Amino acid sequence: MAETAYQHWINSLLDSLEWKLNTYALSYEKPKALAEQIKRLSDFYIHKPREHSPWDEDFCKIAYLAYYHPLNAIRYYALMDYISAYSFPKIVELGSGLGAFSAAFSQFAEADFHFVERAEVARDLHKSLSGERAHWSAELRQDHLSGALLALTFSHTENIAIQRWLPHCEHVLVVDPATKEDFGHLSHLRQKLIDSGFEILAPCTHHQTCPMAESKKDWCHFSARYSVPQKLRLMEQYLPWQHHEPAFSFVLASKTYKRKVPKGYGRLIGNPLKEKGKFRQLYCNGSERVFLTALKKQVSEWPFRRGECLRIHSHERKASELRIRSLDNVDKY
Ligand SMILES: C[S@@+](CC[C@H](N)C(=O)[O-])C[C@H]1O[C@@H](n2cnc3c(N)ncnc32)[C@H](O)[C@@H]1O
Repeated sequence: MAETAYQHWINSLLDSLEWKLNTYALSYEKPKALAEQIKRLSDFYIHKPREHSPWDEDFCKIAYLAYYHPLNAIRYYALMDYISAYSFPKIVELGSGLGAFSAAFSQFAEADFHFVERAEVARDLHKSLSGERAHWSAELRQDHLSGALLALTFSHTENIAIQRWLPHCEHVLVVDPATKEDFGHLSHLRQKLIDSGFEILAPCTHHQTCPMAESKKDWCHFSARYSVPQKLRLMEQYLPWQHHEPAFSFVLASKTYKRKVPKGYGRLIGNPLKEKGKFRQLYCNGSERVFLTALKKQVSEWPFRRGECLRIHSHERKASELRIRSLDNVDKY
C-alpha cells in the first residue's frame, strides 16, 4: 500500500516535470542529453561547494527539473518516516528551490507553507509547477518565523547563516546531503541547538555528545527505502554515480515539543553488516560509538533496518559491542 502510494506520487511528479522539460526541447526519452546538464551542475557544486545554485544558467534549471528536484523529493518522502509524528501547521522553507520538500510533505500532512527563495528564476519555476496557494519571499524576515518550523533542505550548504535565526524559531529542521563534510556542519549545529534550549526530536534519542561527530569512518545518515524510478536511473547510466537509495542526514529540533521516542531507546544508524558468524549494526544511544550484535548461532535472522528505534534491556558488553542473546532482549518502538 505504501509502495503504491509512493509510485503514484512520484510518477505524477515526473509527469509534471517532463512537461516543463519539453519547453527546453528535452524529455526523459533523452537521458544522455539530460545527464550532460546534470553533470555540469554536479561539477559546479563540487568546485564551488558553498556558492549559490546558478539558477540563471539553463543547465541548472534542466538539471533540477529532470533530476535533483525529484531525487530530493524522494529523500524528503523517506524523511517523513522520522518527522511525521510531529505536527507542523506552519512551515517556512528557506532556500526552497522548486519545492521538493513541500511536494513530499504534502503527501503526509497539511501545512501552511511560506517559501523563501533568493533566486527569482527558481521561485517562478516553482510557482508554475505547483500552483500551490502559498506565501513567497526572496528574503527571510523575523516575523515570518513566529510559531513556524524553519526548514532548510539541502540549502544549509549554501552558507545560510541559520544561527542568527535560532532565537526567533520555535522548531528547526535541517536536511543535508549525506556526506562526511556536511555531517560535520550538521553535528556542530546540533550542539548549537542543544545549547540554545532546543530539544532534539530526531534522529537523536539523547542530548549527549554525538558519537559520530569525531568518527573518521562513519557519519549519521539515512536513506530512502523506496525504489528510484526508471526515468531517473536511465540518466544515471551516463553519470559517474548511482543513487539506488538516495541518502540524507538531518536534525529536527523544537523549543516547545518533547521527543516522542521514550528515554532508554536508541536508533540504528547503519545498515546490518555481513560478518561470518555474527550480525552487527551501528546503534546510537549515547556518546559512545557502539554496535548492536548477536551471534548467528543464537539469533538466526536479523529483522532490523537502519533508522529503527530499539530498546535493549539485556545484553553482554564486548568492547564496542552490545551483544544480545535473543531477539526477546530488544523492544522495537
Ligand atoms: C541546493 S538548493 C536546494 C533546493 C531545495 N531545497 C531542494 O531540496 O531541492 C539551495 C537553494 O537555496 C537558495 N538559497 C541560498 N541562499 C539563500 C538565502 N540566503 N535565502 C533564500 N534562498 C537561498 C538557492 O537559491 C537554492 O535554490
